[in-house]
Formats: sequence, structure tokens, C-alpha cells
Amino acid sequence: MVERSSRLPGFHRLSRGERLAEVARWIEEDPSVVEGVVARGALDADWADHLIENVLGVDALPFSVAPNFVINGCETLVPMVTEEASVVAAAANAARICREGGGFRVRAADPVMICQIQLFADDLEEAERKILAAKKPLLDAARGADPKLSDCGGGPVDIEVRQIEGQPSGQKFLVVHLLVDVRDAMGANAVNTMGEAIAPRIEALTGGGAGLCILSNLADRRLVTCEVAVPVSALSMGGFGGGEVRDGIVAASRFAELDPYRAATHNKGIMNGVDAVVLAAGNDWRAVEAGAHAYASRGGRYRPLAIWRCGSDGVLQGVLEMPLAVGTVGGMTVVHPVARLAVRIAGAKTSSDLAAVAAAAGLANNLAALRALSTEGIQKGHMRLHRRGREGF
Ligand code: MEV
Repeated sequence: MVERSSRLPGFHRLSRGERLAEVARWIEEDPSVVEGVVARGALDADWADHLIENVLGVDALPFSVAPNFVINGCETLVPMVTEEASVVAAAANAARICREGGGFRVRAADPVMICQIQLFADDLEEAERKILAAKKPLLDAARGADPKLSDCGGGPVDIEVRQIEGQPSGQKFLVVHLLVDVRDAMGANAVNTMGEAIAPRIEALTGGGAGLCILSNLADRRLVTCEVAVPVSALSMGGFGGGEVRDGIVAASRFAELDPYRAATHNKGIMNGVDAVVLAAGNDWRAVEAGAHAYASRGGRYRPLAIWRCGSDGVLQGVLEMPLAVGTVGGMTVVHPVARLAVRIAGAKTSSDLAAVAAAAGLANNLAALRALSTEGIQKGHMRLHRRGREGF
């Protein structure tokens, strides 16, 4: 296999056609095929007419690629779709800096999604006992509702039950969580199908009545952790030394940890990168957004998804932890040609690979924003990132 590097100095200075040829080489595809996919605006209006309601045509956003990423030791080009100028440049710039410390190290938990089944019953303790005692037949029934998922190595893995109180009426209810390993799918359809299949069984078992049955977008079993260690020598910019920049980034992180108003903006910067990858790959970015912000609020206070510290060796350490419910099979990833191309460019073989790429883009964008904010300010940095022909990018 040919050694290749995602470090592409001057990539932004190439013409669009040259960039396209470079990316085509990356995925070992004919440039005319890649051009054919991206130039058409990707989705055919007749296709679109089958996807949602009342279609008039298709809308389009810029489809771009950020070079320089190393993710778990793999040279990676990151596909991004965004309307916001400087997001792609910021990601590429931060990825170049992060290479100096070996790049992004990402761990993804098993892709387990939660389906919630709300249950009203007279005796909640008794209902809970009966559900937990019938775990195996209930999991078997859920498995039977989508046997293909089990054939792929996924399927229902557990059932948990919680009591919820605090309704104005005083009525309590149970929430049954059906946990499903959805493998390479985002998983909404699979878990909703399974939940609806077992809800009547739970009613029959407990004598209760089921209420809502739907996945939870707080996908906190599907967490992704992304870490970087950046040597100070890579951080200097303008007249600012590397140590000064590192300390500014750590102070900016503390600000976000202490103040939800700042945390919201800090997290918006992370989602600039995450959403751009999720959107490029044709995934449900509202689900990812909902999960991210619900996770950021766990424990009762809204907090930053990524924090930065100075390690004992003086290195800047960043860590991002967030739920990332994305898929490489099903939905738009199958029908949208650009989404398929994006998954190929990212080299994502599994949903966890795609989540890793989105997380790395998120942490990169956060680093770029904090580096600019804690030195020369965002407006100057923004313009600087815009300036074509900038050295080193
Ligand atoms: C702008 O899209 C994102 C930033 O506001 C993020 C931040 O403040 O950390 C620059």
C-alpha cells in the first residue's frame, strides 16, 4: 500500500478542479466521477421528491474538504458541509497543529441507542419486577422485530427500568429503556421498530398502559472521546509565544466551565466542526445537536463538551466527550451521492469511524476558535484564516 499523507500544504491555493483531482486520487476514483457527483448538486430533484413532502427542488451548500488530520494514526481528509466561512480553514489549521502531537486519539463506545417506552401502571414496583424478570423473552421479541441487525452483530442488549415522578397530577410512571446495539446505523428506525414491538408485551405482562414509545436522542451510551496533546512549539501565532497561547486556551476553557453563557458559544464552535461532517455524510444533525446539548447539561448545569489543560510536561491537552449517533448505512447515506462520497473520503468503514472523524473536526474547530480568541481576537483571526495564500496552511 502506498504511504500517503493528508498534510497537503497549499491545498487551499489549488483551483477547485485541482483540489477535486487530489481528492479523487485520495479515494482512487476517476476525477470525472467525483466531479459528476459534486457538480450536479448531488441530489436529483425527482429523488428528493421521494424523500420528503411537498418538494419543489433541491437546496445546496458548499461541500469541502479539510486536510491535515491524523485520527488514531490514520491520515484523514475530513469532508465538511457548511455555509460558514473560515470553519473549514480553522479545522485544517488546527489539524495541522495537532499533527505535531501525533494527531487525534478517539475512542468510541459500542453504538448502543436507547428506546424509551413510557408505561402507566397501578403498581409500579410490581410492574418493574415483572419487566425485569421477563428481560430475556422481551429482548428475544425485540430481536425478532429486526433480525437483520442481529445478523450484523448488533441487536437488543439490555432493558432498564426507571420510575419518574413530579407530574402535576401526582401520577408516577415507569420508563423502560430498551438498549440496542445498532452497529453501523444511526439506529432510529431499528430501535423504534423494536420498542413498538415489545410495548404491547409489556402492557400484557404488567396490566399497564403504554404511553410514548420513541428513541432518546440523549445517546449517552454512544459516547465518543477525542483527545489531543499539542506541544507549545506548535501553538505560537503572531506575536504570541506558544506558552502564552496555551495558557490563554486553558483560561478560555475554565471560563466555559464556569459560565453557561460562554459554554454555549464554546460548544457552538465545536458543533461547527461536528455538524459539518455529520451534514456532509447525510446524517441527522438535529439528533446529534439534541444529544450534544442534553449531554452538556447532565448534572444540572450546561457545561463545555471539550476542556483544555496544561499537562505536567507543559503540553496542551484537550479532551472532547459527547454522544455521536451517526450511521454509515441506511437513510441518506444510501441515496445521497455526495453523502456516499463524503463517507468514502473520510475513510469511514463503520459508524464509529464516522463518529471519530466528526469528533476530531469538533475538537479541531474548538482549538482554532480558542487560539484565536485568546490571542488576537476572532475578527482578526477570521480575516487571517480567510486570506488566500497564507503561509503554512
Ligand atoms: C463562531 O462560529 C464560533 C465561535 O464563536 C466559537 C467560540 O467562541 O469558541 C468563534
